[in-house]
Amino acid sequence: MAIIVQLAQGAQALVGHLTNPANLTQILSTVVIGIAIILILTQIAQRVNVDKNAPPEVPYWIPYLGSAIAFSVNPIKFYSDNRKKYGDVFTYTMVGRKFTVCLGVEGNNFVFNAKLADVSAEESYTPLTTPVFGKGVVYDCPNHMLMEQKKFVKWGMSNDAFRAYVPDIVEETKTYFERRWINKEGGRGDLFTAMGELIINTASRTLMGPEIRALMHESVAQLYHDLDDGFQPINMFFQWLPLPSYFRRDKAHNEMRNIFMKVIEERRANNITDKTDMLQSLMNQTYKDGTPFTDTDACHLMIALLMAGQHTSSTTATWALLFLAENPQVLQDLLDEQKEVLGSLDAPLTFDSMKNLTLLDNVIRETLRLRPPIIMILRKVLRPLAYTGTDYVIPKGNYVAASPIATQVDEKYFKNAFKFDPHRWESIVEEDTGETVDFGFGKIAGGGARNPSLPFGAGRHRCIGEAFAYVQLKTIVSTFIRMYDISLTEKGMPGSDFTKMFVQPLLPVEINYKPRK
Ligand code: HEM
Repeated sequence: MAIIVQLAQGAQALVGHLTNPANLTQILSTVVIGIAIILILTQIAQRVNVDKNAPPEVPYWIPYLGSAIAFSVNPIKFYSDNRKKYGDVFTYTMVGRKFTVCLGVEGNNFVFNAKLADVSAEESYTPLTTPVFGKGVVYDCPNHMLMEQKKFVKWGMSNDAFRAYVPDIVEETKTYFERRWINKEGGRGDLFTAMGELIINTASRTLMGPEIRALMHESVAQLYHDLDDGFQPINMFFQWLPLPSYFRRDKAHNEMRNIFMKVIEERRANNITDKTDMLQSLMNQTYKDGTPFTDTDACHLMIALLMAGQHTSSTTATWALLFLAENPQVLQDLLDEQKEVLGSLDAPLTFDSMKNLTLLDNVIRETLRLRPPIIMILRKVLRPLAYTGTDYVIPKGNYVAASPIATQVDEKYFKNAFKFDPHRWESIVEEDTGETVDFGFGKIAGGGARNPSLPFGAGRHRCIGEAFAYVQLKTIVSTFIRMYDISLTEKGMPGSDFTKMFVQPLLPVEINYKPRK
């Protein structure tokens, strides 16, 4: 009791002290002087102990935070402004970490094709990905195991599987819009929400398996949201915080794994072997050295695929349709292409017939050139790393970053670089040195990392979902434009939201639609 009385008296005295105007002025001036000293010390610290061989550093005022605010407002502008001052290679600080960005085709090649002994993708991404995907897969295992996992996934993405997927994606798309965008005179639709739902519905119906699609309206959609909430840039920096979203994420991960596990057990119990989906392919794999790829591993890899393909494809579908709404002539050209190649707009879309829709391919390619969902690719530096052709040595512990969008919007490679012009690809011959390399998941083009457009990355971590993404996106876009004529609302094209893990349009994204006769 005596202690409480003493504490209360102490608090009263403190309040009295603080509210006295003379003391308040003194406290405020102390705070201001304190901040000024910290800012000056931050500047001095950046000038002394400079490693002479390290790449130039972007100066900053706020310790620890560094350039985080300028970067997250618009990373593309941040890179381009600093590139003018420091060249293709420079370092910036964000939330206590140092990032050395390597721009241009040489920069892309440097990061994407860096040696395993020099850099690690695992150490960059695992705090973010492992709690969501689960243990033992992708960035929670040695790289050679990831390479084999990618091979298992590629086997589940065969042309035969794609042939089976296309009619399912067409049906899902038609059903989705026939139930929701129903105004016969036309109206406004929430495009971003529609594409998000459609991508998850179609991916679950095809890659994930019909059992997962059947659960989509109930548990899986909510679980996906909870997993997604735990997959934000902040999680890379503050994985130790006791955030409610982390608890929801962990719970969702366990439930999701249990759902996949139940499907596997039921398929095994009923001896079901005729499915063409990814789950079936992952159920029967073994590593080269005989280590089993367990059912738990299969469940975790399925979650990884679900997460890797969702935002990347849904934002691409949204941007592609926005660009078409903005460019009615390209939309008309696409319809003409379908009539010419397939005979009519009623002809069934198939995997094989869509291969000949080159303008449609180019619409997706051009969308990804201008609006790639991933604009920064990271590797942690494991030992001092000399940057080819310069005296720079990137210190151990920094992150190297590639940003292929820099070359994708560079006039040197693409005339009128910011213009959406899918026809430009008709005259672009992509470099093919004939040289191929196999990192363990099949041959890929060896010189590919110097290609100025790399929305799917390059090297050993190159995306394995590209072929599936193209099938999914082409089928959805074709089906959609057969159903509706579209135009932009008075708000025009939305800007980009760079604060998200995968860059997306600033919400809300509405579009005018009018059903075609
Ligand atoms: C990796 C882009 C769709 C699965 C990557 C990387 C990029 C990328 C740039 C390289 C990351 C790095 O080097 O650090 C895209 C884009 C997509 C897309 C733009 C769609 C438009 C998909 C889909 C799947 C998928 C549909 C699976 C179904 C993966 C996986 C990796 C990956 C598993 C990790 C590979 C590794 O680290 O070795 N993706 N992706 N992606 N992607 Fe995709």
